Amino acid sequence: MTKPLNLGMIGYGFMGRAHTNGYKRVGDFFPELQYRPVLKAACARNRENIQKFADQWGYESIETDWKALLARKDIDAVDICVPNNLHKEIAISAAEAGKMILCEKPLAMNVAEGEAMCQAVEKAGVTNTVWYNYRRIPAVTLAKQIIDSGKLGRIFHYRANFLQDWTISEDLPQGGAALWRLEADAAGSGVTGDLLAHCIDTAIWLNGQVRDVTAMTETFIKERTHQLTGKKQKVGIDDACAFLCHFENGSLGLFESTRYARGHKALYTLEINGEHASLRWDLHDLHRLEMFDHADTGLTRGWKSIHVTDGDHPYMGKWWVPGLAIGYEHSFVHQVADFLKSLETGEPCHPTFRDALDTQKVCDAVLASAADHTWHSIG
Ligand SMILES: NC(=O)c1ccc[n+]([C@@H]2O[C@H](COP(=O)([O-])OP(=O)(O)OC[C@H]3O[C@@H](n4cnc5c(N)ncnc54)[C@H](O)[C@@H]3O)[C@@H](O)[C@H]2O)c1
Repeated sequence: MTKPLNLGMIGYGFMGRAHTNGYKRVGDFFPELQYRPVLKAACARNRENIQKFADQWGYESIETDWKALLARKDIDAVDICVPNNLHKEIAISAAEAGKMILCEKPLAMNVAEGEAMCQAVEKAGVTNTVWYNYRRIPAVTLAKQIIDSGKLGRIFHYRANFLQDWTISEDLPQGGAALWRLEADAAGSGVTGDLLAHCIDTAIWLNGQVRDVTAMTETFIKERTHQLTGKKQKVGIDDACAFLCHFENGSLGLFESTRYARGHKALYTLEINGEHASLRWDLHDLHRLEMFDHADTGLTRGWKSIHVTDGDHPYMGKWWVPGLAIGYEHSFVHQVADFLKSLETGEPCHPTFRDALDTQKVCDAVLASAADHTWHSIG
């Protein structure tokens, strides 16, 4: 006998679709789970657009005001898939209304907002999670298992890149639908909160907490026309960011992100180097994990590419037959599955708001360091 989990989705853009796909698929591929998502209501400001989304994806009803959604007794959990400047207000209100919360990343615009959100969910005792979905790509989850087994030994280096090229044109406006990421008031920051936040979340998960950072940022195009007002406005976000850090385990970190790396669309790569072995992963080849193990004997020693598609690899027993790959969208199905499982076990579904605050602290320290050119400790 399954139990319904009535969902209210706020936003119908990129993530609204990615998450809804997860809710729709999860019961088919994780049939043992007790809870089944029910697409109760979808919410956005434009009635026509949200009705079209609801009809296409199978939501039972719509709302045009998120406060009305939160007031509904038939909603158990809300999914926050709107620009970053709305996360705090919606999440705190949702917690006060006793709703479970699945919130998109970055958790908030800054640490102060994030801390208020953590306090709200902890006070209300509501289940919460943040969609740092890259943790649930099977090859990345496998990396975590290998690192936790101790196979790498002492860790010396961690490095990650997230490279894109979509904002190079100075004619690209900022603000409004689809371009809110370029407007500081809506996004909080540029590549730091948007892209590096993913790299930082994975890094903390794989390699532990960050101790301190030194960073540089650049805004290559200083003014852009605002899409809604038609006026030229100063650009307040970071177009590119690079930072160095120390991890608590004594290893060194090197991170870079930009939207100005011509030719790169979403190149997220990470590498970790230990005393005995190294691992590296690349989003463009996401079902592979590369590993060098110094314990391999001389003749066969070298980098090997693990095709993470066997039934005993993380999550893969749920999908096709060994050798057949899955993709980006499955990371969201996995997060939904883990969230539903957490409702059965009572264990948190990581990363929780509190976990995501650790990433927010690093993001804030990176931006502060870029501004004052000094090292910043993570508080
Ligand atoms: N986990 C990931 O990999 C990942 C990827 C992309 C985006 N994100 C995050 O997801 C969030 C949404 O990003 P996106 O790419 O889906 O954006 P998007 O622009 O595609 O969609 C944003 C949605 O928010 C809606 N919206 C805006 N203001 C609203 C309001 N006041 N009330 C209700 N709805 C409102 C818009 O109508 C739109 O449907 C952001 O926080 C972003 O950082 C995460």
